[in-house]
Amino acid sequence: MAPAVPDKSHNALQSAVQDVQDRYIAANPKSLARWEGARESMPGGNTRTVLHVDPFPVAIVKGDGARLHDLDGHDYRDFLGEYSAGLYGHSNPIIQAAIKEAVEGGIALGAPNRWEAQLSELICARFHSIDLVRFTNSGTEANMMALGAARAFTKREKVLVFDGGYHGGVLYFGNRNSPVNAPFDYVFAGFNDAEGTTALIEAHAEELAAILVEPMQGSAGCIPATPEFLQSLRDAADKHGIVLIFDEVMTSRSSSGGLQQKLGILPDLTTLGKYLGGGCSFGAFGGRQEIMALFDPTAPQFLAHAGTFNNNVMTMAAGSAALSQVFTAEAADALYDRGEAFRARLNDIAAAKGRAIQVTGTGSIMCFHGIAGPIRDLTDAKDPLPARGKLLHLELMLQGHFIAQRGYISLNLEMTEEDLNAFADTFAAILDQHGSFWA
Ligand SMILES: Cc1ncc(COP(=O)(O)O)c(C=O)c1O
Repeated sequence: MAPAVPDKSHNALQSAVQDVQDRYIAANPKSLARWEGARESMPGGNTRTVLHVDPFPVAIVKGDGARLHDLDGHDYRDFLGEYSAGLYGHSNPIIQAAIKEAVEGGIALGAPNRWEAQLSELICARFHSIDLVRFTNSGTEANMMALGAARAFTKREKVLVFDGGYHGGVLYFGNRNSPVNAPFDYVFAGFNDAEGTTALIEAHAEELAAILVEPMQGSAGCIPATPEFLQSLRDAADKHGIVLIFDEVMTSRSSSGGLQQKLGILPDLTTLGKYLGGGCSFGAFGGRQEIMALFDPTAPQFLAHAGTFNNNVMTMAAGSAALSQVFTAEAADALYDRGEAFRARLNDIAAAKGRAIQVTGTGSIMCFHGIAGPIRDLTDAKDPLPARGKLLHLELMLQGHFIAQRGYISLNLEMTEEDLNAFADTFAAILDQHGSFWA
């Protein structure tokens, strides 16, 4: 059979991507050499899959304020914000002082410290569904522990998760299941499909321990859950005694009490991560008193929750200082509003130019999609021409805007109006140059 003849616009896209890639490679020789060296000792030169970039990532040597600086001498406006953990920018003096103070007092003490009590108090005060909380080292661990708690509490085995869901390295459902996932007994449902999910819950009601859901699917492309969908999960969980877990590892920055507070729908357990450790390794799970009390070591038959660094002083000190002094309730609301306005502005630019590209998200977290219609789940978000995403990413990088290759953005508190204006202008200019690929 004769090979299919590629169409003209496909060829044009390939050559535009080749051109921007050639310029990116030429601009980053030291990063390329660093990456090639790293390949000798790490598979693909990488120890965190999401940081891989095609053709290779730039090596960042320093961050300050809302800026990043790479090995080849380029400066970037940091629109990635460490996938939302970099909320405070890179040199907040309050956080730096808290970490310094903690380090000067000894770093591996092997006992409870004053900051963990402070941080737990702050979190319980902010998140109204959290009566008690425990800390972990990552959001992944927080979700693993929350699922364990739900299984112990309900004495049931199954876990309902959603296509496109991401809850950590061993709880990733972008392609249904993965061999590296934790081997729970999963039931898979469609995100934002209230009717289908309710039917599945009815069918498995007696066996379901937990429903695990992101109020906005982050990894799938910043796709917000509809309030009706989340409410249907709340109702079904109540009806059948299933533990409803909101993974707010990303979305908890949406208000002083998370996206749950904004929506007025409260889960039984919440998992947290990212910025709440002030930029240090962090995770937490918390919720209803009677579930969390299972972990009380003064109770006769308690559940163990281990972790050498669960209360490490750097995270606990940085997190307490950040939450009490920097990310106040007012700061959370202002950042949310700023993100909403910025996303609307980018969408207005695309619409004014008649281009089929849009930005979805919630507040200060958002993602580009080369698609015109509504995006309610992973299937809607599938770009038929993914090379366009690479083109946009490398053009933005070459013009000093650091974002994820998959189009993800999270704003940080140090960003200025000038940063946002510069990004919006660059996006408009890229559409002027390459817009026909998003016809
Ligand atoms: C929604 C969500 N849950 C869980 C995690 C896992 O957190 P961590 O990377 O700290 O393990 C992430 C990380 O990106 C996330 O976005």
